[in-house]
Amino acid sequence: MDFKPKIPLSQLNDFIKKLELQALETSEERIPLYNEIGLKNANLILDVGCGSGTVTRDIANYSKGKVVSVDGSKYMINVASKVLKNNKNVVLLISSAESLPFENNVFDIITCNLLLMWANNPQIVVNEMTRVVKPGGTVLASLEPDYGGKLHYPENPKIDPIFAGKAIRKKGGDPHIGRKLRLLFVKAGLLTKIGIGNNRIWTCEEDKAYYLHSRDFYIKTMKDVGLSEEEIDKWEYEYLKSLDDGIQLNFFPQFYAIGIKKK
Ligand SMILES: C[S@@+](CC[C@H](N)C(=O)[O-])C[C@H]1O[C@@H](n2cnc3c(N)ncnc32)[C@H](O)[C@@H]1O
Repeated sequence: MDFKPKIPLSQLNDFIKKLELQALETSEERIPLYNEIGLKNANLILDVGCGSGTVTRDIANYSKGKVVSVDGSKYMINVASKVLKNNKNVVLLISSAESLPFENNVFDIITCNLLLMWANNPQIVVNEMTRVVKPGGTVLASLEPDYGGKLHYPENPKIDPIFAGKAIRKKGGDPHIGRKLRLLFVKAGLLTKIGIGNNRIWTCEEDKAYYLHSRDFYIKTMKDVGLSEEEIDKWEYEYLKSLDDGIQLNFFPQFYAIGIKKK
């Protein structure tokens, strides 16, 4: 298997905490997509890059069908097996998304959430998903961000670039994956629709709750790029104050792609 997890083991607990919160807070943008692609009535679903399994749990609860979930990280599959222990319709497998262990034309629907940004070769992943979905079946990639489209005010010229792609690139992710979705899906031969899943601006209270829950992840990211404790404290004080004052505006586009395999 050519898959190497990009998050070091020491940071996995923070990462898993972040995924859990993300799953909770993004259900309002994922559920309409699940409705649109008819997930409820699909018989056989594949969720690729399932991570800690919190999004897979939504899929499994939402659908009457059987869900096969794969992730390249053994550690993540172990976490997912605990998260999904009550979902009897889920089967978990360790597998690289770039080489799926299935025959052609097997699944009714294939989902992946926040996977392509982290994949070494997202085109091969989309090609693989296209290969194993049935003709007429659907491939959905949800929550693929584009850090280049991030809006945020009041600004902080020193810190903002870190969260506008630098940190993701340093961790091995592609901060501009959102804008590449159309090319990836069309090149795989799928009839493609692209959209933005989140068209709502969060309130300052929501932004603050998200920040506080993911604080360890943010602080570590800033330390990793060499900021001093003093700089981090100053940034955090100003950021939280702008949220408490109710003046901070954040928007971060999350793209999705729906692809139908031609019959
Ligand atoms: C950001 S997490 C998202 C997890 C989950 N889909 C969610 O939204 O909570 C990305 C996951 O994709 C997995 N992953 C990344 N590249 C992969 C690849 N090429 N093959 C298999 N899994 C991969 C990682 O191990 C990680 O668990």
